[in-house]
Amino acid sequence: MPSNCPTVTLRRFDVADVPMLLSMESDPEVMRYSTGVKVADDSRRHELLAWLDEPETDIGHWVIDVNGAAVGWVSLTPLGSTGRIQLAYRLCRSAWGQGIATQAGAQVCSYAWRTLGVQELAAVIWPGNDASVRVVKKLGFAFAGREHHYERETDVYILVRPDAKSGLSF
Ligand SMILES: CC(C)(COP(=O)(O)OP(=O)(O)OC[C@H]1O[C@@H](n2cnc3c(N)ncnc32)[C@H](O)[C@@H]1OP(=O)(O)O)[C@@H](O)C(=O)NCCC(=O)NCCS
Repeated sequence: MPSNCPTVTLRRFDVADVPMLLSMESDPEVMRYSTGVKVADDSRRHELLAWLDEPETDIGHWVIDVNGAAVGWVSLTPLGSTGRIQLAYRLCRSAWGQGIATQAGAQVCSYAWRTLGVQELAAVIWPGNDASVRVVKKLGFAFAGREHHYERETDVYILVRPDAKSGLSF
């Protein structure tokens, strides 16, 4: 992580974060290796508002906040019907290259080990998304193989819970 990485705080979404979400998902560069650009129109805004209204669980999405500004999100969500939990992240372009995704990912992994009973986390990465591969590798994930997810071939990386590897109690 760059030594000048800003301090990252994670919090749950608020209605005021909707413009940031719309801006990210309508940016072709941000969505290049994701499920596709979404037009930032009223219909999408209403979809996001309905999504924010859904009851909170112990997993889901967290806003990445840097100096009081929302710059993206990091998430823990079920990986389809595999029974695995996946780590994902998305940042506004202006926030790239400062170590922010790695810092947010580390916080969420630590939360997963402390709070969820999972033995490992997965990350699903579109081939070619080298920045994202670098993030998961910095977090300690290892390549586990190519799998079909989101209607395409994806590269799956796995991070095993640290105590599960060492045999030490957590
Ligand atoms: C992927 C993403 C979250 C990375 O966020 P970030 O805050 O810039 O990541 P970090 O700064 O923590 O680390 C990025 C690393 O990738 C490297 N990197 C950046 N672009 C790269 C590229 N094109 N090829 C190879 N490495 C690259 C950086 O140098 C850095 O590595 P380093 O610390 O060894 O120098 C951000 O680019 C993004 O939001 N992309 C669009 C959404 C997305 O693809 N999400 C992931 C879906 S799997």
